[in-house]
Amino acid sequence: MTSQHDLHHATDSAPGREWWRSAVIYQIYPRSFADHNGDGLGDLPGITSRLEELQELGIDAIWLSPFMTSPQKDAGYDVADYCDVDPIFGTLADFDQMLQAAHARGIRVIVDLVPNHSSDQHAWFQQALTAAPGSQERKRYIFREGTGENGELPPNNWQSIFGGPAWTRVTEPDGNLGQWYLHLFDSSQPDFDWSNQEVHEEFRRILRFWLDRGVDGFRVDVAHGLVKDQDFPDYTPDPEAASMGGEQTPAPYFEQPGVHQIYRDWREVLEEYDGDRALCGEAWVSSVDAMAQWVRPDEMHQTFNFEYLLAPWEAEELKDIIDRSINAFGAVGAPSTWVLSNHDVVRHATRLSLTEENPQGTGIGPDSPGIPAHQDAVQRAQAATALMLALPGSAYVYQGEELGLDEVHDLPADTRQDPTWFRTEGEKYGRDGCRVPIPWEAEAPAFGFNTTGEAWLPQPQRWTALARDAQRADPQSTLNLYRQLLSLRKQRDLGSGALEWVQDYGPGVLAFRSAGTLVIANISGSPVELPEGAEVLVASAPLEDGRIGADTTVWLEQ
Ligand code: NOJ
Repeated sequence: MTSQHDLHHATDSAPGREWWRSAVIYQIYPRSFADHNGDGLGDLPGITSRLEELQELGIDAIWLSPFMTSPQKDAGYDVADYCDVDPIFGTLADFDQMLQAAHARGIRVIVDLVPNHSSDQHAWFQQALTAAPGSQERKRYIFREGTGENGELPPNNWQSIFGGPAWTRVTEPDGNLGQWYLHLFDSSQPDFDWSNQEVHEEFRRILRFWLDRGVDGFRVDVAHGLVKDQDFPDYTPDPEAASMGGEQTPAPYFEQPGVHQIYRDWREVLEEYDGDRALCGEAWVSSVDAMAQWVRPDEMHQTFNFEYLLAPWEAEELKDIIDRSINAFGAVGAPSTWVLSNHDVVRHATRLSLTEENPQGTGIGPDSPGIPAHQDAVQRAQAATALMLALPGSAYVYQGEELGLDEVHDLPADTRQDPTWFRTEGEKYGRDGCRVPIPWEAEAPAFGFNTTGEAWLPQPQRWTALARDAQRADPQSTLNLYRQLLSLRKQRDLGSGALEWVQDYGPGVLAFRSAGTLVIANISGSPVELPEGAEVLVASAPLEDGRIGADTTVWLEQ
């Protein structure tokens, strides 16, 4: 495929058929994808060099986690300059080249925008530190006086999502301890004050900077968090909930109504551009009904369906969340999205088979109970993926899941880098286990991640068997399953289908028709007869004497 893909033509998709409604979007975590310069951290030229494999896989778009200038205290989600590339990832010219090469292959490109907070190394925050309390410079962030007799206590009891207090006290230019600033995440990630119009203007400028370069959209980090309850009331979250949000009664720093006006404004900015540019919100909110508010017709285009991601491998629960998602998003004219893995959660080839509760953000380590055997867990993950890719709407695939990668629970403690690990003093393992550089070639240094053998997190030896080249030749491999599913999904237009449940298969079995395809996911634990006269299009695991085994999903023509 070549430059015949003019992805930015004003008429590239008819209303109701816009690409983002049904796209399969592949998440690249740049530091762990492909490392061209061999320093152990992936980079943009590395991505360019592997686009062929992604085209072959059959995805429609890539979303890149942040590669902008950053001290990397939170793996790039701490941005010091929103309009430049961090030297560890390359240059703006490398970005342009990557974008062009992706477009030439018919792959759209979404970049990550982090508007809730910047890095403490951002010029604005550095200026704020040297400016006086109450100054314009301080008003771009959330600085407050402390409580207690001498302001020695934080302004309220809010805790950082990574652990520890959400406020840090600064030393004023005169050398005395002074005000406190808010950081919902690490102390190196001060929150912007979105009640300040200057912050709005700056982000409109940043959006245009990347739109002008030709990006197809943005994944918006902490999209539910920008606006805070201006009373700053004390609040204690439920320790069992996902650390990123999603409680029944929203925290005073999440899901505040004022946040929606920001996305209405951004939508207008996107609409100044030709083609279908899209906004996808990372909003960890309580339910899909709440989530649907982020994708009303004049707001974002998509939100990640975290309720689906968090659902256990259980038929009734899955059916319930699938129904509720289709209804809630359908009611506002938006597609549902589906996602099972990303860089913040335990990989689904492990998570769906964990026998113990593991709230998001906790992670798993060498001593965690209930870690499943890989082979069984991968079979379940494959069945879950085959179910997900048959659902109408847009789906997200996280790099490495097409190889059946498991969570690396056995990372040595001294290699861990997630701020969660440090801020909870090792009580939570955090997210490093899903961020290990992915294996390309079984016999190459660092499994072909680069040519030097360096890797910022060590790769487990067991991944030799999971390397992409080892899977290519094996028709039964996870890689070939993903390729088959993606190709059939496109061919049959399943992403634009309409789901109709079929009740005939008993408890523990999910069955539905969509786009002329019968899909059966066997979650019941015992084999299920294939319907008479059915032709198997794809099966996530070999059939057992002509029957659909446990933890197996099939797509059928019937
Ligand atoms: C959500 C991102 O996905 C996560 O990786 C990051 O740590 C937080 N937002 C803070 O930016």
